[in-house]
Amino acid sequence: MSKAFKSPNLETKSVEELTSELLEAHSKLQTLQKEREMMLANISHDLRAPITAIRSAVDLALSSDNIPAAETKKILSLIDRRTASLEDLINDMYYLFSVEDASHSLNLTPVDACTFLEEYYYDAIIDSRYDRFDMQLDVPCDLSCTINIEPQKIVRVLDNLMTNAAKYAGEKATYIRLSASIYKPDTPANYKFDNTSFPFDTKLIISVSDNGNGIAPEALPHIFTRTYTVSNARTPGESSGSGLGLSIARAIIERHGGTISAESTLGEGTTFTVSLPCFCSQS
Ligand SMILES: Nc1ncnc2c1ncn2[C@@H]1O[C@H](COP(=O)(O)OP(=O)(O)OP(=O)(O)O)[C@@H](O)[C@H]1O
Ligand SMILES: [Mg+2]
Repeated sequence: MSKAFKSPNLETKSVEELTSELLEAHSKLQTLQKEREMMLANISHDLRAPITAIRSAVDLALSSDNIPAAETKKILSLIDRRTASLEDLINDMYYLFSVEDASHSLNLTPVDACTFLEEYYYDAIIDSRYDRFDMQLDVPCDLSCTINIEPQKIVRVLDNLMTNAAKYAGEKATYIRLSASIYKPDTPANYKFDNTSFPFDTKLIISVSDNGNGIAPEALPHIFTRTYTVSNARTPGESSGSGLGLSIARAIIERHGGTISAESTLGEGTTFTVSLPCFCSQS
């Protein structure tokens, strides 16, 4: 016996509403298509820059039989650096695509937020890149909250935020601070606690702040977008990495059901804020 298909939407929505939804979906598709085209153009550009440098170095090496040993060493070390940056770029692109691919499931583990952040911090600050900074940890250990995460991926996000602060905050920056707090929405008046947990939309808020150069207001809205190129912000160069760090961070955090944002004032500093769903005990 065949059943008539009834769509609840078709029954309750007017033709105008459906048309406007269709138009909205169409415009979203067009935006996605545009993003994809820009991304492909950027990928070609990003791959071309190191390949061109390698090609020129090889041409130079082949152009004469009598290149002094010191010169040959210089050429080889340029090829080595550019090959390494090409590898970084390809690895980061692959990583970004695989994180964004919803069919790749995350390997989630429940982790105590305070322990996780403390362990991360004390492992990270051994790095000599932080030597000149006053490193600060502000994670109250009565947080009593559990986050469901793939730890390596969240470590990758924190690493990028912390190393960005060390790399880009500039000469005048004196500190880098990792802090955390819990955001608990108001409890509904008639809710009866079951003495075990606080089941509402609770968030763990993690911030990484510096008091450095800050980010220009015109660049700030775009720093998480992989298709955006400002000055050298996404040009794979000698030491700046692939330039995909924040795009990867956003993809990771969104796959965990969270958000990431940045606030910055030129000359005063930058704060990146990550919000992750968490589960708190009631205390
Ligand atoms: N704390 C900060 N202070 C000032 N500028 C920043 C800060 N964090 C990020 N930026 C800016 O945002 C840009 C993008 O950062 P992102 O982490 O995506 O790339 P990257 O660090 O250049 O390369 P990668 O992370 O791939 O090694 C940086 O190039 C820098 O211009
Ligand atoms: Mg980075």
